[in-house]
Formats: sequence, structure tokens, C-alpha cells
Amino acid sequence: MRVPRALNPRIQNQILKKFGVYEKVLPVQTTPSRKVPDHIIKPDYLTDKKIIVPSVPEIKDVNQIRGMRRSCKLAANILQQLNKFIQPGITTDEIDEFVHNLSIEAGAYPSPLNYNGFPKSVCTSVNNVVLHGIPDLRLLENGDIVNVDITVFFKGFHGDCSKTFLVGDVDDRGLELVGVTEECLNIGIKSCGPGVPFTEIGSKIYKHAKKCGLTVIPSVLGHGIGEYFHGLPEIYHTINTYPGVMKPGMTFTIEPAITHGSEDTVLLEDNWTLLTEDGSRSAQIEHTILITENGAEILTK
Ligand code: MF3
Ligand code: CO
Ligand code: CO
Repeated sequence: MRVPRALNPRIQNQILKKFGVYEKVLPVQTTPSRKVPDHIIKPDYLTDKKIIVPSVPEIKDVNQIRGMRRSCKLAANILQQLNKFIQPGITTDEIDEFVHNLSIEAGAYPSPLNYNGFPKSVCTSVNNVVLHGIPDLRLLENGDIVNVDITVFFKGFHGDCSKTFLVGDVDDRGLELVGVTEECLNIGIKSCGPGVPFTEIGSKIYKHAKKCGLTVIPSVLGHGIGEYFHGLPEIYHTINTYPGVMKPGMTFTIEPAITHGSEDTVLLEDNWTLLTEDGSRSAQIEHTILITENGAEILTK
């Protein structure tokens, strides 16, 4: 007969019933911020000349749209390259190094680095971390889900996208969570087009999540983006009363975060890492889109 061994602390940490099988994480030690060579052009928040963020959602002209296409394409390209890089045993700090180096090789600045004091070049949010996780020396484990949120500043424009990756074999509840989150983003994007109220996105996403028995985390918003990292409009992912309608030439992100648990979150003392309060997992996915004459185009495809 096999004698059952004492559970190791990691396994004890797993929440086996209510929210599926996974390890609840907290930040661990990390490495110093990475260096950016002098020739890389920095965004306004690292220079003396600050950009004035438009006070209404901006309608971009052809040159600005060209700029957005370039930066978004690069962000999407780097995100895609992570597919074969992410596996059990690598650290999120190695993801940071990978994204940092690819950005710089392409001639772009990794927008998160030193943005309002964020210390790393990318955000990595594992399991119960909702967003803005700081890459660190924790090894990714079989069964983890990890959102990697990449923004690059390339030739004067930011491009922003993220995806939740599956690390090895993820349990069914985790697969369901990531799948429904992707559906929510797609439904949100499909609802977009000229003349459509911004409120549509949130109401469509909310309804789909609810139908699937999942919860949208309401404090996570999408945003206008361009020569600035975050601008108007604010994009709610739940029922909301945000004013205004979409117009051709607007670019903004949609980035719902969805959980099995409650909508409540806690911000850690690092002032970045946002966790679910109940320890349930959260998945997130993000695209930057352009409103066109007859719908919306995904720029970070
Ligand atoms: N990319 C994130 C977003 O989707 C913002 C990250 S800000 C950082 O809006 F400072 F944490 F990097
Ligand atoms: Co992002
Ligand atoms: Co964003």
C-alpha cells in the first residue's frame, strides 16, 4: 500500500474545489529594471516635452492611423512569438527579458518601463493576479495561466495588446475561463462601429460573461491610445453610462478581465499588482482597434 505523503506547501496552496486547481501566487523577488539604449526614442513620460492628451476621443488622420498600424503590428508580433517561449520552468522575468529585447531590436521602446514608475518592460499576471503583475523570479508551473500585456512605443505611437497563455496542462475551469474571456473580447469588438455608443461594448461583454456564469472585473477599463499610452475614451467592460458614440478614426483598446469569483480586487503595496480578493483566477485579453467606416479593424492582429 502507498503511504500518503504530507502535502507540500505549494499543493496545500491549491484551491481544489470552488475555483478549480491552481496555485495562488504572490509576488516574489525580481531583478533590476532593464536598460534601453540611447538611440531608442522614448515616450513623452520619460522626456521633458510632455504630450497633451486630447480632452475628447481623438479622430486620427491618415498619418496617425499609419503610425498606429505600425506600433500595433509590432506589439502583436512580439506577443505571438511568446507562444513557443512560454512553458513550465521559465520565469516571468525571462518573459520580460524576451519582450524587452525584441522591442529594442525592432527599434521600439517597451512602454511599461518606468511608466508612472512601473519597474519592468511588460506586465505578467499569473492565476489570481488580475493585471499589472511585475515580472519576477517565480518559475511558471504546469497548470498556470499567465497574461502577458505588451505595449510598444514605435515611431511615435503606442500599440497595446495582451493574451492569457496556458502553461502546460491547465484544468478545465481554467480553460473555460480563458476561452470565455476570448469570446468576450470578440463579442465586444464585433459590437463596434461608427455611431455605436461606447456603452454597447460593456453591455455585450457583461451579458456574455454572465450567461457563462463568470464575472467581469469592473475596475479594469480599456482606453484611447495613440501618441499617448492612455487617453479617452474610457472603455467599460460592464453595464455603464459612459457618454458618446464611436467615430471612424478613433483608436482604443478593449481589455476585459474575467473571473470565476467575485468582482472585488486588492491592490498590493507595490501599487501595481492587482489581485482578486477571493483568490480566484482572472483571465484578460486585449486588442487595440480602429473604428472604420463600416465597423472595427483589429490593429493588434
Ligand atoms: N498595457 C496596460 C494596459 O493595457 C498598461 C500597463 S501600465 C504599466 O493599459 F505601467 F503597468 F505597464
Ligand atoms: Co495592455
Ligand atoms: Co491597454
